[in-house]
Amino acid sequence: MKPKTIAILGVGDRGKMFGNAIQLYSHLAKVVAVAEPRQAYREDFAREYALDPAMVFTDWREFISKPKMCDAVVISTMDQDHVTPAVACLKLGYDLMLEKPMATTLEDCRAIEAAQRASNGGIVAVCHSLRYVKNMRTLRDMVVSGAIGRVMTVDQLEPVGLFHQAHSFVRGNWGNEGRSTFMLLAKSCHDIDYTSYLVNQPCLSVMSYGHLSFFTRANAPAGSGERCTACAIEPTCEFTAIKQYVQGDRTQWPAAIVSADHSYEAHLQAIKTGPYGRCVWKCDNDVVDHQVVAMQFADDITVTFTMTGFSHGLGRQIRVHGTKGELRLVNEQLTMYTFATGDTQTITFGEEAGSHGGGDQRVVREWLLALHSRDDSQIVANAQESLKTHTIVFAAEQSRRQGRVVKIAEM
Ligand SMILES: NC(=O)c1ccc[n+]([C@@H]2O[C@H](COP(=O)([O-])OP(=O)(O)OC[C@H]3O[C@@H](n4cnc5c(N)ncnc54)[C@H](O)[C@@H]3O)[C@@H](O)[C@H]2O)c1
Repeated sequence: MKPKTIAILGVGDRGKMFGNAIQLYSHLAKVVAVAEPRQAYREDFAREYALDPAMVFTDWREFISKPKMCDAVVISTMDQDHVTPAVACLKLGYDLMLEKPMATTLEDCRAIEAAQRASNGGIVAVCHSLRYVKNMRTLRDMVVSGAIGRVMTVDQLEPVGLFHQAHSFVRGNWGNEGRSTFMLLAKSCHDIDYTSYLVNQPCLSVMSYGHLSFFTRANAPAGSGERCTACAIEPTCEFTAIKQYVQGDRTQWPAAIVSADHSYEAHLQAIKTGPYGRCVWKCDNDVVDHQVVAMQFADDITVTFTMTGFSHGLGRQIRVHGTKGELRLVNEQLTMYTFATGDTQTITFGEEAGSHGGGDQRVVREWLLALHSRDDSQIVANAQESLKTHTIVFAAEQSRRQGRVVKIAEM
């Protein structure tokens, strides 16, 4: 079996993760090309994978302007840079691993799905890692097996975590909708996708509320500066960028992403001048810091989802209530209560290596296996499936903005 040859477009945090994951399965695939505008990231990556200089590009636009040069492409650029390379790559005959969200508008998500159908059997996997995390997959398997009877209600909580909220959705890539996209799509399209996978029924309508209430200039404490490096209250502030990004372990997320060079001096410089040194109450963020979504699925299943930045961030929590019992997933513990017998069973999952509890590695493995078998039924979130669940997310955001119930059929 000859390994498939892969190009990665965008080697920031996720692109590097994909490179590592592909290396784990070197019998199945090999990274042969990269497109990345940031020189240090591009050069480090090209060196690590010993890439032919002719296969190293500064922009995905340059990559797609060339004839097909390998088997498949990973698109791990930022959200607004998904649709154009995705459609172009499918037209050129590449198979795709596409980071979620598919794109930032429903029209663009539809364009990608249509491009897959127009392609000659192009294999597309959208990286919905939660479907692949061991505890969440086991929960889903138990629900589908009928272990708790007919599903009636689901409650799902995503505790983003206060510092993660400040890092990614205030100071970072996803704080400003104009630069990236709205919160539910950026952060929680995963969770809405997983819920839909869990209940295995079509969603009929949604209602949502959500606000940006805390990370605003009006809440800035007295004495706070524009940046942590020039702030009177920095020593006692829980959001201090100096402690988080400069003084701690600079090689691990989230500190690692502020600079390609992990020396003390380079990180300090990034905090003095870059986005991650800004005061969390004085950024250009406009995405919500808490949101709820109520969903009506077919078969009378009602679902609620809550995303909140105001949490310790230790893992998602899900409760599924059926006619015969109840399942609760809290971090690594899955508990089943059976009504008829009064029995309680608990499974404790061991920690798994790899990002998203090993979920990302499994997404990559299943995609690589599908590239060889040419059978996309091995991929649990292909373009069609992902479009279906992205549609619920766009409907929920429309509901939040318009203050009304939105039916999926009107999207
Ligand atoms: N599946 C998940 O769980 C998950 C988790 C986090 C992020 N994401 C998604 O993954 C994507 C990437 O996120 P990230 O955290 O790696 O962001 P990042 O900013 O670390 O990486 C994006 C990279 O794209 C590069 N880039 C910008 N313009 C480019 C161009 N014209 N051509 C090629 N590369 C270009 C940037 O320089 C950067 O290195 C986003 O869509 C994000 O929403 C998915």
